[in-house]
Amino acid sequence: MGKLIIGNWKMHGASRDLAEADAVAADLARRPSSARVAICPSFVLLHRLAERMAGTAVAVGAQDVHANDQGAHTGDVSAAMLHDAGASLAIIGHSERRSDHFETCDQVAAKVRAALAADLEPIVCLGETLQERREGLALEVVLRQARDSLPDALAGKDFAVAYEPIWAIGAGVTPSLGEIAEIHAALAQALRQRFPNTRPAPILYGGSVKPANARDILALAEVGGALVGAASLKASDFLAIIRAADAAVAR
Ligand code: 13P
Repeated sequence: MGKLIIGNWKMHGASRDLAEADAVAADLARRPSSARVAICPSFVLLHRLAERMAGTAVAVGAQDVHANDQGAHTGDVSAAMLHDAGASLAIIGHSERRSDHFETCDQVAAKVRAALAADLEPIVCLGETLQERREGLALEVVLRQARDSLPDALAGKDFAVAYEPIWAIGAGVTPSLGEIAEIHAALAQALRQRFPNTRPAPILYGGSVKPANARDILALAEVGGALVGAASLKASDFLAIIRAADAAVAR
């Protein structure tokens, strides 16, 4: 099955960087990928990127949504607005949202419900801190976050979960392949139990995914794709990761 490869541009990228997305789309038009590909730019670029990516193999997503449809929430953007602007998916509960904006699992679950109501596919992020990993609590923490961040409303819906160990994000280090496989297998089992009649949600790995390590990570059967930060900003790196996903499913 094809992998899901999502680029999270975070608070990077300006008008000129839309050309990077154009280059990704052009390469995928020349040589289609087995992977489903999406780019999540900042809110201010989202509409323009969605117009440029219309009719290409690159979907466009948001990096966050507000839990309400509309209202007096200065500076926030609702899921319905993002859908209207051309988004088809939304990253929700990223650890940078959880730390920068103190988002709790309950708030993440409410945002996931809002995304579903607006026809956005939620990509729900989970992950342990370095201290939790060192204390042997990684699995417990991630399973608890999954339980509390994933609302029952996901039953029967398309969604994805991204396992992003916080200590691996932007750090140039990743867990071992065995550690990644362990967490992903446990998450898959938890999702099967919780949502038995739902198409299995891909479980993405995120945290320092690069062209150099993508093939090994994506070759793990438990890994349904990648959530890519820094290496999604340049078309050449992002395409190398997409092609690594192709290589992983071809072998
Ligand atoms: P990096 O790929 O830059 O480590 O970021 C990972 C991430 O947080 C993606 O959401």
